[in-house]
Amino acid sequence: MNISRRAVCATLAITLAACTQTQESQQSLLARGDYLVNGIMSCNHCHTPKDKAGNPIMTRQFAGGAQRFDEVTFTATGSNITQDAETGIGRWSDADIKRALTEGVRPNGVKLAFVMPYPLYQALTPRDLDAVVAYLRTAAPISARGAPPLYKSEQITYTYPGADKPMNEADLRDPVKRGQYLANLGHCMQCHAERDSNDVPNYRTGAGKGGRVFKTPAGMATAANITSHRAKGLGAWSDAEIKRALLDGVSRDGRKLSMVMATYSQYLKRLTDDDTNALVAWLRTLPPLE
Ligand code: HEC
Ligand code: HEC
Repeated sequence: MNISRRAVCATLAITLAACTQTQESQQSLLARGDYLVNGIMSCNHCHTPKDKAGNPIMTRQFAGGAQRFDEVTFTATGSNITQDAETGIGRWSDADIKRALTEGVRPNGVKLAFVMPYPLYQALTPRDLDAVVAYLRTAAPISARGAPPLYKSEQITYTYPGADKPMNEADLRDPVKRGQYLANLGHCMQCHAERDSNDVPNYRTGAGKGGRVFKTPAGMATAANITSHRAKGLGAWSDAEIKRALLDGVSRDGRKLSMVMATYSQYLKRLTDDDTNALVAWLRTLPPLE
């Protein structure tokens, strides 16, 4: 009697320990997902409606973006990615979501417009991909159908060197590689790489060179040169000046940056100091271009 009771307790204790461990790892996975999704990956920027000040309305999180992207090869709006079964992604399997995030392909085989930064999300580590999916699963289902996309020609995955395959946990311990990783997740090169008239990004010889022009309600904005060029880029900026641009949306000379860049500050502000420093360390390695 005594022995069997001890045996039961021992088994229970192991199960409890395992349970607590699973709960803890699930919690840290969700915390990581929250950090990425609501921070540097800025999903809300395109997938959540915004108030007049441009802040995402979190009670409607992921119900669909306000901005319609009208580009050379497509017209598209950030989709409803809530857990709603009919209008969101509630019926998608984890594998379906991961495929959309890293390959840009829907379960029905239709390729997503590449304003959805899947070409750069290919870099996601397996753990971070799990974390993003785990976090998306916590979103309340909201029924909302946005305008359907219009594809003017085939959508192509333009891969940025360094985002061509998943990174691993060891890469993330190296500050420069982690900085590049964060830049991929923050899809900096979607805006800061030179583009040709067909909207094809020139990652080979134009990464960080800027020049892409954006139309905003407040006027036109041209993506800045963020390479290490001393006159044209960030080469002569101090770390503090670069951080101020990223976190407060203010240029070196004190000018408020266009909303195209400045709206990202609210997401970049969530970066830990270590991660902000890593991003700056990576920016310093971009070969000077003019
Ligand atoms: C720069 C804007 C932008 C960002 C940032 C962005 N997305 Fe998207 N996403 C889009 C657009 C636009 C579409 C719709 C593309 C289309 O219809 O072809 C889309 C489509 C999707 C889809 C496919 C759903 C469907 O059937 O249309 C998923 C899933 C998705 N995004 C998840 C995410 C997640 C998760 C994040 C953050 C980790 C994210 N997106 C960040 C713009 C963005
Ligand atoms: C949606 C497009 C977009 C994305 C994404 C984006 N930027 Fe920008 N960025 C711009 C534009 C446009 C400007 C120029 C704004 C202006 O001059 O008012 C700019 C300006 C900057 C500046 C200030 C440079 C200067 O000379 O004033 C820095 C630094 C910068 N971006 C870094 C980054 C980094 C790092 C990332 C990724 C984490 C990033 N940007 C993501 C569009 C973008």
